[in-house]
Amino acid sequence: MSVFDDPGLFGRLWADTYDDPGNPDPAPAVDFLAGLADGGPALELAIGTGRVALPLAERGVAVEGVEASPEMVAKMRAKPGGDGVPVAIGDMADVPVAGPYRLAYLVFNTLFNLVDAERQADCFRNVARVLAPGGAFVIEAFVPDPTDFDRDEQVRMRAVTEDSATIRLHQYDRAAQTFVRQTVTFDRDGVHLRPFAMRYLWPEQIDELAERAGLRLAERYADWHRSPFGADSASHVSVYRSR
Ligand SMILES: C[S@@+](CC[C@H](N)C(=O)[O-])C[C@H]1O[C@@H](n2cnc3c(N)ncnc32)[C@H](O)[C@@H]1O
Repeated sequence: MSVFDDPGLFGRLWADTYDDPGNPDPAPAVDFLAGLADGGPALELAIGTGRVALPLAERGVAVEGVEASPEMVAKMRAKPGGDGVPVAIGDMADVPVAGPYRLAYLVFNTLFNLVDAERQADCFRNVARVLAPGGAFVIEAFVPDPTDFDRDEQVRMRAVTEDSATIRLHQYDRAAQTFVRQTVTFDRDGVHLRPFAMRYLWPEQIDELAERAGLRLAERYADWHRSPFGADSASHVSVYRSR
């Protein structure tokens, strides 16, 4: 298995540290999603450690999940309320659940964790299959920034302390719209590699995937606060509706 065909890799490398401080506050996403859930049920693809799902469930929404990594789900199960969220272990491109759901959502750029164009299309087709009529599919993702990959590579410092240094290296394939990233940590124990890959999409390309699956773009914002989306927006929150 390689970084391009191992959906469980992320959790094996990151589950232990995923909930360390640094990830976004889920509150604005939870407000936004609770408003669309209509009581539920709601489905989070790639539910992870429940960063968004648990506070959404606390708001009274019946939340379920799909997740490739048992390690990430184990972290959720250890949190208050984490036992009450049903999770299907599997690939989010297959959406291995029956539905129907009033709301499905895939946040924090995680659509791009599907590194193959066909699997991204499968994901939309399968979400459309499990959405209730008029149900919503919400995507949160970054807008690719061409200055990030104008030389097909990028090196960034991530953290330096007295005991360690961490850098991130990206190698882009612009034709395939993919990158491989290594997060490299040097410390007294040696060199630690945490590989990761993504296939990034521009918002219009995501709209095409949705269209092909029978979903239409209903709303698009720059963030969870419903700030207007524009040419300079670095990210988007897009709401697709089944026809
Ligand atoms: C950045 S985390 C996001 C977790 C959670 N949605 C959140 O917002 O905190 C990405 C998650 O996607 C999961 N994942 C990656 N590829 C997957 C796949 N093909 N199917 C299901 N889950 C996948 C990883 O295991 C990880 O839990």
